[in-house]
Amino acid sequence: MTDFATSLRTHLAGSLRASHVGTSVRLGGWVHRSRNLGGIVFVDLRDRDGLVQLSFGTDWASAEAIAAAAAVGVESVVQVEGTVVLRDAATRNSEMGTGEIEVRATAIRVLGPAVTPAIPVARGKGEKLPAEELRLRHRYLDLRRPELQATLVLRHHLLQETRRYLAERGYLELETPILTKPTPEGARDYLVPSRVNPGEFYALPQSPQIYKQLFMTCGFDRYFQVARCFRDEDLRADRQPEFTQIDIEASFVDQEDILAMAEGLIGSLWRTGGQDAPAQFPRMTYADAMERYGCDRPDVRYGLEIADYSDAFRPLEFGITQAALARGDRIRGIRIPGGAAWSRKQVDELESLAKGAGAGGLLRVRKADGKYDGPIAKFLTPEAEQAIALEEGELALFVAAADRISNPALDRVRQECAARLGLASPDERRFLIVTDFPMFEQDPTTGALGAVHHPFTSPNAADMAAFPDEPHRWRATAYDVVLNGLELGGGSIRTHDPAVQSRMFALLGIGDTDEQERRFGFLLEGLRAGAPPHGGIAFGFDRITMLLAGATSLRDVIAFPKTTTARSLFEGAPTPVPPEGLAELHIRVQEG
Ligand code: AMO
Repeated sequence: MTDFATSLRTHLAGSLRASHVGTSVRLGGWVHRSRNLGGIVFVDLRDRDGLVQLSFGTDWASAEAIAAAAAVGVESVVQVEGTVVLRDAATRNSEMGTGEIEVRATAIRVLGPAVTPAIPVARGKGEKLPAEELRLRHRYLDLRRPELQATLVLRHHLLQETRRYLAERGYLELETPILTKPTPEGARDYLVPSRVNPGEFYALPQSPQIYKQLFMTCGFDRYFQVARCFRDEDLRADRQPEFTQIDIEASFVDQEDILAMAEGLIGSLWRTGGQDAPAQFPRMTYADAMERYGCDRPDVRYGLEIADYSDAFRPLEFGITQAALARGDRIRGIRIPGGAAWSRKQVDELESLAKGAGAGGLLRVRKADGKYDGPIAKFLTPEAEQAIALEEGELALFVAAADRISNPALDRVRQECAARLGLASPDERRFLIVTDFPMFEQDPTTGALGAVHHPFTSPNAADMAAFPDEPHRWRATAYDVVLNGLELGGGSIRTHDPAVQSRMFALLGIGDTDEQERRFGFLLEGLRAGAPPHGGIAFGFDRITMLLAGATSLRDVIAFPKTTTARSLFEGAPTPVPPEGLAELHIRVQEG
């Protein structure tokens, strides 16, 4: 590591080792905790490298120094002088990097006194963290916690590795504007009023998508950016309104070129985080993922796969399934080994989850003591039992509905069953690349098309040729990188033919060419000026850091995050603006 010596200190506290024994040191840091044992005062001094124990004893320190050490408050910043000595064998601490030594201190000076901290920084073994809201409010203290310090240091190393990996392969780090025009990525925009252009607004970028494509039309060939993106959407543990992407684009490429680069980059980031990743990730088509897992980012650490039981139910005189089959829907379900032992209440809870995800209910049957049992058992003929083929101890749960309803419901149930059965090992990593997404999704009532990825993704050429008038059947050249059920990144090969791009806009309901020019002219003009085939991908950098830090929320890997109601509790944003400020921006706020 760099030499941290300055005029105020000689070493980092946490870097001292047995090899320093006998060295006179001057240290600067925070008082982590202190103990006054009468004749001797111990202080744990903390800096970014860790903790070191200081001892102030009568044999080597003056009475003033001992009194000053005893009086200093926790979290105060001090400068200390002393000598590194070996600890007695009995007092060595193998859990601390500096545990073999201590500093016999002779002087202590308070450089930055601290008021009593609102939340503790030092914690005893097994002591719980203060409530998250309190920690976010007092982030200036929470960020002193060694765990959060380690996470942000890891974040730094991952950023440096990203830059190294991509720059070495000829990717240019180029910046794009933050005050820009709306880019459709599926969320609401954050808008910024323009003072000098009354009534007009900038949008903060949901992603640098259009700009990175324009770089390709300008010949920059390979681009990347550590890009801050803004999306006004419903927040969850894995979503922040302001987040960071590793945004990448390249020219003269096809899907395989991008995916090979993506596997290489992710592999190198995982190694930087001290974990392995395979050289290549297994592939699965979107259609296969939806059929077997009911979602496009399946967690494949466990089975519990969805299967189609329509044929088993077809001959049965059972109203619910008959009605569904008559509508052209299917009966799909999952079998859960050991689920037969679950109580009625436990299965009811699964049904509530399925209903919460949109299903009308869950049909259930189990096999216990060699017999089929449960609410629908009486409708099952021996042939149906044979077709469902439950093993002893298995529970089967079915949804009789259209796929668009059964998919999210069975996905939710599958995940909950895996959690209950402890099937998702945190130490297992199953990377997956999902390909062949549909180009469009169709509104079930209006029939209107929406882009599944974004409007700039190029449709599968063979599908366009085979079904020229049925765009809802076209697949896209879009792909996602998934790990253990979390989407790490997504991208596509883009449309570089301006006529095709214009047709895409028309299919998405922007048929008016004036409107196309007004909203996307800056892309269309770039494409018309000579555009190479190009494509790219963007990774969620916060999500990657979260996984490698072993955290479960993005709030634990972002220095100053927002809450689920999009507030920053520490700075206190957003805030009302005084009337003069609004007037200058030509804005009037509507009450209520
Ligand atoms: P996409 O919208 O899939 O693609 O975003 C890429 C990746 O960004 C991460 N991500 C988020 N992370 C935290 N909070 C959020 N609110 C959030 N939203 C997205 C995810 C996601 O996989 N322009 C395209 C990329 C491309 O086509 O090249 C895009 O933005 O990990």
